[in-house]
Amino acid sequence: MDRKLRRGLLVVLEGIDGSGKTTQARALLRRLRYRGYKAAFFREPTRGRWGREIKKLAARADSLTPGEELELFVKDRRENVKNNLRPALESGKAVVLDRYYFSTIAYQGAKGIDTVEIRRMNEAFAVKPDLVVILDVDANAGLARIRGRKTRDELFERADYLVRVGRIFRSFEGPEFVHIDGRGDRRAIGKAIWARVAPLLPPRS
Ligand code: TYD
Repeated sequence: MDRKLRRGLLVVLEGIDGSGKTTQARALLRRLRYRGYKAAFFREPTRGRWGREIKKLAARADSLTPGEELELFVKDRRENVKNNLRPALESGKAVVLDRYYFSTIAYQGAKGIDTVEIRRMNEAFAVKPDLVVILDVDANAGLARIRGRKTRDELFERADYLVRVGRIFRSFEGPEFVHIDGRGDRRAIGKAIWARVAPLLPPRS
């Protein structure tokens, strides 16, 4: 049985690198489908043309200015909203999204771009989420889970940056935000997320 939602539901997972949000996003998707809801999963950066461009350029450290970075993430998001998010929501799906414009506010904001301005330019076109789950982890704990960075200097620089990103993530407040300690047990975190998602779904008939 496919349980279609009348108006769709947009749940966003956010957190610094290594916070475990991708694992939780996939677990949430499975749980929704298991309960019979029509659900879709998307991520940003996407695999579309701008997303691929971001990945390519990100591999070369400091090849972009913060402003250029911002522009690419926003271009990628415009396509994601138009081609993926709106159609899925309009067809009544529960959409699980791994990163959204809160990542831009946190990551590009931590590089010095005005966070109010980043939010304004995104909210001019982006669908507003019903729930934003922010997984809070310490930057060093997050970094420990990530490989591929070579020198100690690079690691220190990245840790310092992620501390600033994490600070912005922690500052989000409002009824649609929920902050969850990302250090806990994976299943317990999954349950805590579900406890916030379930009330947003229509009751079983
Ligand atoms: P992602 O593919 O989610 O990486 P991971 O799964 O390792 O967390 O994101 C890639 C990087 O892009 C990540 O470091 C966060 C960054 N990012 C921004 O800087 N701004 C944005 O708007 C988004 C969506 C991501």
